[in-house]
Amino acid sequence: MMKTRITVLCENTVGKLVGLGEHGFSAFIETDRGNYLFDTGTGRSVVENSLALGKDLRSVRKIFLSHGHYDHSGGLAEVLKLRGEVDVHAHPHVFLDRKAVHKENGKDKIKFVGLPFKRGYLETLGARFILKTDFHQVEEGMFLTGEVPRITPFEKPSTTLFTEINGKTAQDVFLDDQALILDTDKGLILILGCAHAGMINTVQHVIQKTGKEKFFAILGGTHLDFMDPEQLEESINVLKRMDLARISVCHCTGMRAASRLHQEFGDRFTYGCVGSVIEV
Ligand SMILES: [Fe+2]
Ligand SMILES: [Fe+2]
Repeated sequence: MMKTRITVLCENTVGKLVGLGEHGFSAFIETDRGNYLFDTGTGRSVVENSLALGKDLRSVRKIFLSHGHYDHSGGLAEVLKLRGEVDVHAHPHVFLDRKAVHKENGKDKIKFVGLPFKRGYLETLGARFILKTDFHQVEEGMFLTGEVPRITPFEKPSTTLFTEINGKTAQDVFLDDQALILDTDKGLILILGCAHAGMINTVQHVIQKTGKEKFFAILGGTHLDFMDPEQLEESINVLKRMDLARISVCHCTGMRAASRLHQEFGDRFTYGCVGSVIEV
């Protein structure tokens, strides 16, 4: 793949002069072959930011969903209203009911955090769902990881996130959590949604499946601030041993974890705010 430009469309913070921040993630991908969208934010900023940043959502050839959380999938309806019929690649579990539990004044507060639309409605708007569980090529030089094997001992599932299957609530294991890989002349670019499968598990899966170890960039959400501090430090240890030119995390990475990564990676680190760009 020759030219690749990835622009963060939705993210928690706005670092440039234009755009809206929201708790969510979306990245607009421009290549020689055409444009693509990875995740869609919650729906509140994706269209507004696409206009502010001059990215035409009507031009996307394919949409990829990292997982079923509303802050990545909720903007799909708004995008489809503009784009019409388009392939939407995801894991079949993207439609599961999702819950998050937070303590508020000592009491558990439960919030629905899944995809906020029914599959049929999204299909009416033009979504052609392509649901796969395994690593696969989505275009020449572009791959989805599919399910990521949990290998590292230090990456643990979140204790506050749950799924509801047939009325039964269980800890969310996020089989649907996947990342996108772009194989560029300067190395692999790995775009993470929330990395619920673990950033390092995802990296190892990518190396195993592609046979390549040279990474130009890792960007997106890492969920590290929500996890044990040990997970952040162990992840940094692995990242430092990698052939990695840029790291541009954001969204659920959180400010503390992002600061630690900046401290370790210096000039190789950028914060992936709305409007930030990774380019090859
Ligand atoms: Fe997220
Ligand atoms: Fe998530």
